[in-house]
Parts: sequence; structure tokens; C-alpha cells
Amino acid sequence: MSKKVILSGMRPTGKLHLGHWVGALSNWVSLQETYKCFFMVADWHALMSEYKNPSVIKDSILDNVSDFLAYGINPDESVLFIQSEVPEHLELFMLFSFVTPLGWLSRCPTFKEQVSQLKDKEINTYSFLGYPALQAADIALYKANAVPVGEDQLPHLELAREIIRRFHFLYNKEVFVEPQALLTKVPRLLGLDGRKMSKSYNNYIALDEDDKSIRSKISGMITDPARIKKEDKGHPDVCNVYSYYSVFAKEKSREVYDWCTGAKKGCVECKKIFTELLVDFIAPHREKKQEFLKKKDYICDILNEGAKKARIVASKTVLEAKQAMGI
Ligand code: TRP
Ligand code: SF4
Repeated sequence: MSKKVILSGMRPTGKLHLGHWVGALSNWVSLQETYKCFFMVADWHALMSEYKNPSVIKDSILDNVSDFLAYGINPDESVLFIQSEVPEHLELFMLFSFVTPLGWLSRCPTFKEQVSQLKDKEINTYSFLGYPALQAADIALYKANAVPVGEDQLPHLELAREIIRRFHFLYNKEVFVEPQALLTKVPRLLGLDGRKMSKSYNNYIALDEDDKSIRSKISGMITDPARIKKEDKGHPDVCNVYSYYSVFAKEKSREVYDWCTGAKKGCVECKKIFTELLVDFIAPHREKKQEFLKKKDYICDILNEGAKKARIVASKTVLEAKQAMGI
């Protein structure tokens, strides 16, 4: 039996950080064995919100792809490509636009939320409204069975399924596959200050953070606020440092729990121990990334090769869709 297909994408809007690793990239890496994977740099999606500052996107593409490779995306196994290099994404986006009622898009919770939250970005635009329709096209082009996403993306996946169903109903032919969400089970990693990890809050550790900066960022983290002296017993469950242990050093978290609740180690020492674990995790990947960044031609070859492979699948699907419509 042939492998099931996965498609996922990330928007190139800045540096990747630990939140991206925990919430998406680590999952991508492990899915490669079991599925036929298509991983996409969603530059059109990025432009839908960052159109005023497109240079950020251009700079992020190479940077993000180097992180993908350094952290374990294997271009011999998975198809790694840039969305805008596969024009079929726009073509199917157009076909989907025909059949997608405006109300589905304007009622989408992520649309309403983002337009009101990101006022300075002025994303009350024609293209941003169509964001989920383009995402539906991304997924449908490769007939993906599953899409690894975080919970925030569930409304988009539901819309993708609805658009696909409507297409099938209208043209009376099952061209696409209805994708399932593959929810990332890992606990969410909060930012250094306890809010959502995000570049706009500047509370993140980048996937290529240098050792010195990892050390200073961790040392500034807030711990259990009730624990003032080392003799005070701590409450790991309310401590962000503890949640970092649970994600990055699960095997050690039992021990941390004990030394914290038993007041055996202070927060400074506890953070120091964690810092070194994180440094050891990030450093080899960071070095690999620097190597990749020196070989820009190699990365471009991978992306060109990826786009070629993606187009073979995508163009076949578009042809089938047009045939179903009789155009
Ligand atoms: N909307 C996704 C995000 O912001 C990115 C994305 C674009 C995507 N196309 C996709 C994710 C297709 C999964 C499948 O994270
Ligand atoms: Fe958090 Fe560690 Fe301090 Fe406990 S000892 S409060 S887990 S930093």
C-alpha cells in the first residue's frame, strides 16, 4: 500500500523559535518516516498579512529553510518547496474561489480575530479574506490525507473540507481527498514571560540562538513567584521553567519536581541546569544551520528540485479539477 500523504506549511515571517519546533517542526521531522510528506514555505500566505514589508519574507525563506534542514527535514525523503514556485497553488485557489461563499470566509473566526487584533497591519483586504481558500488549495493539490496543525488552524481545516465537499457536489466528481487534522499533541510552550511565544512580544528563544543569549534569556525567566528564598518550597506546576523541562527534558522533570518541592535546589541553580541542557540541544543544530547558510546554491537546488516534484503532483490535480468542471 502506498504511504498516506501529508502536507503542511509555515509562513516565512521572521525567525523560527522554540515554539515552532515544539508546535510544528519536531512533528514534521517524525512524520517523515510514516508518510509521504510535502512541506511548504507559505510565502503567499505570509504576503497576505505582511504585504507592506515584503523584504522580511524574502529574508526569512532561506533562514527558515536552513532551520528545517538543520533540525532534521530530509529533502531526499520529503518534498520541500516554496509555495509561489508552484503556480498551481494559485490556479486551484481561483477554482476554489468560484465555489466558496463569501459568508464562509467572513465568518471564519481567525479572520475576524486577526483583523481586529492586528489593526496596524491593515489586513482587512480582499486577499486576506481568501486566506483559508488558498490553504484549502495547498492541501487539496496533493490530495493530503492529513495535515499536522495546531489547534488555531482547525477552522481552516474545517473550511478546506467544506470547500472540497462543495466542489465535489457541484461537479459531481470526487477529485480531492478530505483532509484530517493531525493535532500536535505536545504541550504548548509559553514564551519566556509566560505569554504566548511570539516574535512580536520578543519573548522567544530562536532555533539558532547563541549560547550567551540562551543563558541570559533563561536566567531572566520568572519562576514560582511565591518562592523567594531557596528554603521556600516551590510549586513546579506554576513555574514556566518547569514546563520547559517537561518539554525538553521530560526524563529529568521528576527530579526537578522533587528538588523544587523539597526546597533542595534554588531557582538559580535549577535554571542553570536547564540552560545547559538547552544549549546542548540548540548548539549542534545552530552549527549545522550555519553550514547550510554557507551553501546557498545547495539550498536553492533542494528548493528547485522540491518545486519540480510538487508540480508533477499539483499539475495533475489541477487538470483533473478542470476536467471535472468541464473547462
Ligand atoms: N496557515 C498556516 C499557519 O499560519 C500556514 C499554512 C499555509 C498551512 N498553508 C498551509 C498549514 C497548509 C497547513 C497546511 O500556520
Ligand atoms: Fe521553577 Fe525550578 Fe524554581 Fe522550582 S526550582 S520554581 S521548577 S525554577
